[in-house]
Amino acid sequence: MSSHSPAGAVVPEWLAVPDDPNDLVEPVWPAGAARDPRGVLTLGGIPATELRERFGTPLYVVDEDAVRARAREVLAAFREATARHGARARVYYAGKAFLSTEIVRWVREEGLAVDVATGGELAIALAAGADPFHLGMHGNNKSMAELEQAVSVGIGSVVLDSAIEIERLAAIAERRGVVQRVLVRVNSGVHAETHDFLATAHEDQKFGFPLQQAPEIVARIRELPSLEFMGLHCHIGSQIFGTAGFAESAARVIEVHAELLRGGDVPVLNLGGGFGIAYTRVDDPTPIAELADGIVDAVAGECAARGIPVPNLAFEPGRTIVGRAGVTLYEVGTVKPVQATAAVTRLYVSVDGGMSDNARPALYGADFSARIASRTSDAPPALARVVGRHCESGDIVVDAEYLPADVAPGDLLAVPATGAYCHSLSSNYNAVPRPPVVALRQGTARVIVRGETIDDLLARDMGVAAPNEVTE
Ligand SMILES: Cc1ncc(COP(=O)(O)O)c(C=O)c1O
Repeated sequence: MSSHSPAGAVVPEWLAVPDDPNDLVEPVWPAGAARDPRGVLTLGGIPATELRERFGTPLYVVDEDAVRARAREVLAAFREATARHGARARVYYAGKAFLSTEIVRWVREEGLAVDVATGGELAIALAAGADPFHLGMHGNNKSMAELEQAVSVGIGSVVLDSAIEIERLAAIAERRGVVQRVLVRVNSGVHAETHDFLATAHEDQKFGFPLQQAPEIVARIRELPSLEFMGLHCHIGSQIFGTAGFAESAARVIEVHAELLRGGDVPVLNLGGGFGIAYTRVDDPTPIAELADGIVDAVAGECAARGIPVPNLAFEPGRTIVGRAGVTLYEVGTVKPVQATAAVTRLYVSVDGGMSDNARPALYGADFSARIASRTSDAPPALARVVGRHCESGDIVVDAEYLPADVAPGDLLAVPATGAYCHSLSSNYNAVPRPPVVALRQGTARVIVRGETIDDLLARDMGVAAPNEVTE
């Protein structure tokens, strides 16, 4: 079920008054989240108040044990589902969801490959010591420098996105005397929006090639000795809950895959990522093993119908690996009741972060939830909107939530399910330094990405006078 708020609703239809506005509902919170005897939220066994004292707020907290466990679970689900059909699965962690050298190490150690979308993401993966063979690169407009960098380090695969890029990459590989493995990104005409999927004949968007064009594109790649065609790649969207969209897309892509087999090997099919997580209590994501079985069975069914072998499959989950493992901690600065309509008053709870550390509500109208982390309260639930400190009225962190009515300045507020696309989409809007990232492992906490300082921001400003240049 979607938790997306209908535009303009004061209280979203899906938001019910909770029995207890202190509760931590599964599966929105990381598995280890609890309340200690004082009522303080604990994450990975560590009180949120201790994290505030040690690292300040706002603070991105990521539970390393949870990321690792989820990576293992997702890998096992896809491996088992494909093994049943005599094929192998490779799972790439989609680095765009949340990337740092530590996170690359965690997922690599758990057996995942990593997908990067820019030279910067590639640099982080390499700095983490990742074997380039286990990396893949995407992007609709990779620069020549990025393609050069990818080929020179021996990247495992490049996902081609345009005819121009085919020629560019072939020339680079030829000059370097190597054969670069490539996939071809196609649009299946199936795309997912807020848990529903749409199937169209054409897609008016920037990524990939229309499916009908794939045979011609692949024929060209096969003419080029410096490129090795591995297979098709198709990503239908994000935050998808069921298997129906993937199954429809797979059916369309397998038809072309079968056609391509007539001209040579097609060892792989990459079906992208997009597996949804719970952001609020009404989100009910399909268990990953069920999702994996549904998708792979659909692929296998399409292959059987065409009398072709099931190819090795690749997947690129991002959000489902890191999303639930992340919690952002904020401190409440001000609280004010606002008469939203004649009948509804809502508390505007302002925190010390906002759209600079979580752009998703402003960017996509995404819903989140929140709880007071520093205490529990017996006060009745009150309708609240958690807002940030930025100069934008759209600077909303949690659009609608019931919090204890006595929520007050100084309270520590926790927003769960912020592990994906929050740190990676963060900005310095209003010259706000980005928060640190703290990882929790086996009861310990450590900084894995340091927070920015005002000096970091000033350091890039070339108009700042050096001390000896200051004139009276
Ligand atoms: C090509 C591709 N693969 C994988 C992903 C990861 O998607 P998700 O984080 O929803 O699993 C994305 C997300 O935008 C993508 O564009």
